[in-house]
Amino acid sequence: MFTIGVLASGKGTNLQAIIDYIKQENLPIKIGVVISDNPNAYALERAKKEGIKAVCIPCEKYKTILGREIEKKYVEVLKENKVELVCLAGFMRVLKSTFLRSFPNKIINIHPSLLPAFPGLEAWKQALEYGVKFTGCTVHFVNEGIDTGPIILQAVVPVLPDDTPETLHKRIQEKEHIIYPLAIRLIYEGRVSISGRKVIIK
Ligand code: GRF
Repeated sequence: MFTIGVLASGKGTNLQAIIDYIKQENLPIKIGVVISDNPNAYALERAKKEGIKAVCIPCEKYKTILGREIEKKYVEVLKENKVELVCLAGFMRVLKSTFLRSFPNKIINIHPSLLPAFPGLEAWKQALEYGVKFTGCTVHFVNEGIDTGPIILQAVVPVLPDDTPETLHKRIQEKEHIIYPLAIRLIYEGRVSISGRKVIIK
């Protein structure tokens, strides 16, 4: 069994897509634990409903970076639950060295734009305001930067003339729910390797 851990701060639709895909494809992948920094995250409810261990490790308010002690706790819980791959799914805190060194090349994230365009918050809004005709989503490895790690998969979403931030985000999320579970599957199957900035998929 390949064990993953999911970190989520919000509604957890990506978590749900991962859960559903694993079931649908009957994959030997187990979500060992879901961790949130937000006690009210609906992601925690989703996990509990599925019988998945759900843990809240609160962080200091108004800080985007996990403190060193808190990072240690996250790593502890992930290791206790035998997590081999950490999947960030709408986790709103930045991971630093303690965390990254504990899971080298084993942390991935989903971002709602075609990176390297529009890193950071509310990327769909940034894309709309910039006036691009196409945006999308990216699954990438996590490194020290903000949304800068090697890119695993991307999907393109056209920006429509009467899109609002909400309609655009919704269509981007539909694609996220396809490529995120797929990226996890490819990693589980051992088909993903990193060569410098490039990710090779066999
Ligand atoms: C997604 O749009 C993802 O790209 C971003 O955070 C959002 C999480 O959504 N990193 P959800 O909680 O999975 O619905």
